[in-house]
Amino acid sequence: MNILLIGSGGREHALAWKIVSSPLLTKLWCAPGNAGIAQEAECIALDVADHAAVVRFCKQNRIDLVVVGPEAPLAAGIVDDLASAGIKAFGPSKAASQLESSKGFTKDLCKANDIPTAAYERFRDADSAKAYIRKQGAPIVVKADGLAAGKGVVVAMTLAEAESAIDMILGGGFGAAGAEAVVEEFIVGEEASFFVLCDGEHGLPLATAQDHKRAFDGDKGPNTGGMGAYSPAPVMTEAMIARTMREIVNPTLRAMAAKGMPYKGVLFAGLMVTKDGPKLIEYNARFGDPETQVLMLRLMSDLVPALLASVDGQLKNFDLRWFPDPALTVVMAAKGYPGDYAKGSRILGLEEAAKVEGVEIFHAGTKTSGADIVSNGGRVLNVTATGQTVSEAQRRAYEAIARIEWPEGFCRSDIGWQAIAREKGTKV
Ligand code: AMP
Ligand code: GLY
Repeated sequence: MNILLIGSGGREHALAWKIVSSPLLTKLWCAPGNAGIAQEAECIALDVADHAAVVRFCKQNRIDLVVVGPEAPLAAGIVDDLASAGIKAFGPSKAASQLESSKGFTKDLCKANDIPTAAYERFRDADSAKAYIRKQGAPIVVKADGLAAGKGVVVAMTLAEAESAIDMILGGGFGAAGAEAVVEEFIVGEEASFFVLCDGEHGLPLATAQDHKRAFDGDKGPNTGGMGAYSPAPVMTEAMIARTMREIVNPTLRAMAAKGMPYKGVLFAGLMVTKDGPKLIEYNARFGDPETQVLMLRLMSDLVPALLASVDGQLKNFDLRWFPDPALTVVMAAKGYPGDYAKGSRILGLEEAAKVEGVEIFHAGTKTSGADIVSNGGRVLNVTATGQTVSEAQRRAYEAIARIEWPEGFCRSDIGWQAIAREKGTKV
């Protein structure tokens, strides 16, 4: 099979790494890719916003399957346009990807189907939003309705913070994504990322993971796209997975099918496991980044037939096998991320780092410059390791990081702390 992968992050490097291990693969292309993906696939400079150009490329190169990594092309309807041209594409349609691209859409769907989530209201007008906020009190959560690259959420500890978040969002701070704001009840619990492969009707639970959204150690600092992850998430026991499928994912799949927008692709549920059970924080219509990096290291089965079964509606009798060992990934980011940062600094020592047992290094924002690998984004490398325990995976990842020479980068030094506290019996 010929496969085209769309995207350029660490998530796509991990997907590429797994796809090239499939005996079904003839050739893998990636648009646009990065320096790490270039070691697995032929990277091409294709404008993925130009769907006609993507269709042309697929026809010229006899692409059998397109795998879409990020949310923006999904929300732009790339899967619909490829399907109309007779090309199989993994991921939801434009209509189904509203589960990520409109928080208001998802909240209304939850309300109509009794899916547990934080109580909420939708607002287009700042004065009524502020009146509601004052009535509810703080802490309270304010979100831009649309896609805002993970930056459209303010967890406000005070009324003043919540009101200024409303001014920022409805005042045009997020462009069209902020035409509407969602104000939500603040819920308390342990967060988990849960991934389900869907074929429009059936959902096959994949593995679970825990992300680290804050930039600095001790879960301090601004929210980011994710600074590290590990899998599995211990809070997602078999019973909790079954309950989440029953109360959250299956009702969502039924409701989407009933609306005439059956959900295919991977459904990423951001969960808060509260004392009353799992509650949905948000859906994403794609694989997580950096969660995919740990998921792919743990996946024993071939990924390609699973992606095909999702596209073809054949997941009912499908199964996947996983390695029991946990995996952990540490994100190395450019200093300044998630704010302003410089690009173009040289990264050395990657080969030595990759020699540490159990370690795979996935590239995110990198490119080649002559013989060098240089930084080319905010999140730059994902140093990923497996081990018999999360502690062992963590030790291996940080041993590899110690071999990487990149003074312009930084990483958190405590990725995995919750799982490790559990392993050591010190979790409070
Ligand atoms: P999101 O972009 O929706 O994943 O939100 C970013 C982060 O904000 C989440 O990972 C949570 O830590 C936090 N968050 C979002 N919604 C809530 C909520 N209703 N209650 C408490 N924390 C929340
Ligand atoms: N790591 C969270 C996300 O991919 O949105």
